[in-house]
Amino acid sequence: MPTVIVPNDSAVDTGTAVHSSPFGLEAPCRRLNAARPSPCVANTKAQSTVAVCSPTASTHPAMPLCSVSGRIVVGGREYPVDEWMNASEPILSAVTRKLHLQSHHPISITRQLIESRFPTYRCHNDLWPIVSVAQNFDTLGFAPDHPGRSRTDTYYINKSTVLRTHTSAHQADLFRDNLSDGFLISADVYRRDAVDRNHYPVFHQMEGAMTWDKTKHGYGDSLARAIWDDVSRIPVHNVVVEDPNPTVHPERNPLQSEHHSLEEVEAVAAHLKRSLEDVVVEVFKSARSAAGCTNDEEEANEPFRIRWVEAYFPFTSPSWELEVFWQGDWLEILGCGVVKQSILNNANVSSRLGWAFGLGLERIAMLLFSIPDIRLFWSQDRRFLDQFESTHPACYKDVAFWLRSTSSSAGGGSRSNPADFHENDMMELVRDVAGDLVEDVRLVDEFVHPTTGRKSLCYRINYRSLERTLTNDEANQLHSRIRNGLAEKLGVELR
Ligand code: DAH
Repeated sequence: MPTVIVPNDSAVDTGTAVHSSPFGLEAPCRRLNAARPSPCVANTKAQSTVAVCSPTASTHPAMPLCSVSGRIVVGGREYPVDEWMNASEPILSAVTRKLHLQSHHPISITRQLIESRFPTYRCHNDLWPIVSVAQNFDTLGFAPDHPGRSRTDTYYINKSTVLRTHTSAHQADLFRDNLSDGFLISADVYRRDAVDRNHYPVFHQMEGAMTWDKTKHGYGDSLARAIWDDVSRIPVHNVVVEDPNPTVHPERNPLQSEHHSLEEVEAVAAHLKRSLEDVVVEVFKSARSAAGCTNDEEEANEPFRIRWVEAYFPFTSPSWELEVFWQGDWLEILGCGVVKQSILNNANVSSRLGWAFGLGLERIAMLLFSIPDIRLFWSQDRRFLDQFESTHPACYKDVAFWLRSTSSSAGGGSRSNPADFHENDMMELVRDVAGDLVEDVRLVDEFVHPTTGRKSLCYRINYRSLERTLTNDEANQLHSRIRNGLAEKLGVELR
């Protein structure tokens, strides 16, 4: 099974030694390990990002750079610092790394994979991470005593300036700019948090939002109808979703009744849930394939399950979290909800209403690429990074069919009977339709029906481009042409 290269002299605890990866990387891993036995390790030290402007450097461990009354330059921008300053040099040095924009970095690949599910949304991927307390907390309705505001949880530059703790910090500004109905923001975020293999003080989030303008679509029923029309355009999935709660609940998940009708919120919630289910189903199917748990038997034993649970965020109501059942546990993937109308009103777009979500890219990338420790994302070891260089996400699709006669054989059978199926004919068909966009085609299941004696085959096709991330729509189109070709040219009966 392929492995992810973990620099072996870094201080990283790799846990179970071998991890599967969706990328066929085992060979280069071995070769490089042999060629360069002593790799360099992750380095997040200062990269001339941070300059000291005060004549007296502080001796306070949290303020190694400036005196209390000094100034600091981060990434070329200058800020006054005061006694609130608690961001150390390694943390500030991360602002120029922008892992989510480094080509072939797993965080960047994960970002692109999710972005590909939102083809019409405008992407904002280079927003500056030092923001005001107002942007990070006030505009979003955080209570003055919210624990997230404390210096124990948040990195401050000064009393009114922080390293953003979430991508939601840019929501209000983008609503105000009003450049598109839907937008995505991917960015580095900063939090003082636990030290373990799943937490790092700098990580990456993706924020998304979609709003509809009532003046364009009409109010009341006609707005709800327009939104439901949009819902019908979201790709349909076949995963069972647990969603036991009503869309709104008077105490736990209230309707913003002074602004929205129940019909409007039902429609917005359906669009939100269907859009995010689509993302999560696609991403986790890739992750399951990568982890090697995709055969029918395993799928039957542990079918892919997702569920919506009620949540609370100061900036949405109603609010939810989406969880995925992953290797025996429910894993929280994202938070979302109907945007508080006060945020849109204060951003001068009071005619708009809609939804927003936020998710952590590291958690998804760790599953997708079988990366065992969050610190690895910061590795500057070429061997870690190179293994993602020529790889774009895999997209697996299965095709199952009955052969026409019991005398058929898969692979190597004689061609005396024109009804016979020969695997190479299938390979040729796949090549004709998809060319180099298919990485491999494998027989994953085969059985003979006990009473009819008919034989059924199931092939798994891995769609993956060497140059770019394929969208699911592209892969679906190729797959459906291959299915048609199988039925028409090779005479099989599709299942
Ligand atoms: N900002 C939240 C966090 O960091 C995530 C989030 C939840 C973003 C709900 C949203 C949202 O836009 O609607 O945990």
